[in-house]
Amino acid sequence: MDFSIKACDWSKAADKALIGGKTDCIVVGVFDGQALSGAALQIDRASKGVLSRLVKTGELEGKAGTTVTLREVPGIGAARVLVVGLGRHDEFSPKAYTEATRAALRALQGTHAGDALWTLAQVAPVPGRDGAWAVRTAVQLACDAAYRFTQMKSKPEPVRGALRKLVLSVAADDLQAARVALKRGLAIGRGMDLARDLANLPGNVCTPTHLANTARKLARELKLKAEILGQKQIAALKMGSFLSVAKGSTEPPQFIVLKYEGGPAKAAPIVLVGKGITFDSGGISLKPGEAMDEMKYDMCGAASVLGTMRAVAEMGLKLNVIGVVPTCENMPSGNANKPGDIVTSMSGQTIEILNTDAEGRLILCDALTYVERFRPAAVVDVATLTGACIIALGHVNSGLFSKSDALADQLLEAGRNAGDTAWRLPVEDEYQEQLKSNFADVANIGGRPAGSVTAACFLARFAGKYEWAHLDIAGTAWKSGAAKGATGRPVPLLTQFLMDREGR
Ligand code: BES
Ligand code: MN
Ligand code: ZN
Repeated sequence: MDFSIKACDWSKAADKALIGGKTDCIVVGVFDGQALSGAALQIDRASKGVLSRLVKTGELEGKAGTTVTLREVPGIGAARVLVVGLGRHDEFSPKAYTEATRAALRALQGTHAGDALWTLAQVAPVPGRDGAWAVRTAVQLACDAAYRFTQMKSKPEPVRGALRKLVLSVAADDLQAARVALKRGLAIGRGMDLARDLANLPGNVCTPTHLANTARKLARELKLKAEILGQKQIAALKMGSFLSVAKGSTEPPQFIVLKYEGGPAKAAPIVLVGKGITFDSGGISLKPGEAMDEMKYDMCGAASVLGTMRAVAEMGLKLNVIGVVPTCENMPSGNANKPGDIVTSMSGQTIEILNTDAEGRLILCDALTYVERFRPAAVVDVATLTGACIIALGHVNSGLFSKSDALADQLLEAGRNAGDTAWRLPVEDEYQEQLKSNFADVANIGGRPAGSVTAACFLARFAGKYEWAHLDIAGTAWKSGAAKGATGRPVPLLTQFLMDREGR
């Protein structure tokens, strides 16, 4: 989709150029129980009261999330007017703004308008946020709403009247900031698109090799450096835990390192580590058949790291970021891990594999050891790690684990800011008890109680040398059911976190 910014002053009564401008649809907002203002007021004046008459009859209430589409409104250039309810003005909030924006985008798609003038980003200040936030959020949500995954259809279904162009109006004073915000919203949108495409691709297409090739392609297209380690190099690094998972599959494993050097050469990088299991059958501890197809999504951590790297490079953030992705399949075979097998991780710690389905932590632990070499300012790993996280937090929040309050707070705030929230859960050493093994240094499962916490505690044993946080995205990275598909989360959270770190 094409976006642009336009300075508009809706307080200038009946500015002919504004109100007469040709567009398929003009999108305006009205508050519940408040007089018309801004673009809505100007349309009302130009049309000799079309909107105020609807307010009088109660057809235009301004209730949050409601939309009314009007056609052939006299006196204006737009073919349609989409009026969006913003709720009560005294209750206006980032959430109300986001919900109104989503509702408007949904309604706009229903109108089959090819282009639209979008005035909602300037309708009123959003409490606690600036104008740039309003623009960036609108662009991010518009990209989100426009996303389609059709690559695997032999004949992509024809899209009738899809929105191709969105012009966002802002106050003249906000023009410069809005242009930057547009660029950033688009970068986040494209990062999410990449993450979603990779995730939605089936396991037979999105293999570890495909992820590695995607990283190479990103490096060619943007200011990034890709280094891909194959089986031999992974073995030379003594990543015995990662390799033990990979050896059950005929697909060769890959270890992807993608570097973005936007900051001073000496500045410590932020490292993002993403779980890249391109299919998780459970291995010998085979999963039940129901919805097993969804385990193609077990590389959503990896996809979100690649998507975030894309966004950061496109924004040109002034900091150093390294994306690291251990990737392989988890399959049952004659070469696969067996329950009871003991492997030696790169850190030297031995691990008793009591359940081969707890494989994510087995590949992540070696990646967490590997990244010590970067002397990172912080490490955030991202993984569809535990079904237990879905039980704990559902599909609303990602699970956040960190021993560092400062890092946890930064990530939580970034999530709120980007509309991609996380909720903190503990990683206290008290839970390490559950990971005791009779035969090795540690077991790879901790029993049913607090399954997400013990998974995080397992990872913590390998992340002691730097500031670290872990995001469990099992409940947030994709949707099941009729709307099955990847969400692109947590690309917005991670990108916002890095944008915030740039300013420190
Ligand atoms: N990839 C799964 C976690 C998962 C399951 C994410 C369902 C989303 C939906 C992970 O590898 C796994 O299988 N975890 C096990 C751990 C258990 C064996 C301790 C789980 O959650 O059941
Ligand atoms: Mn598993
Ligand atoms: Zn898994």
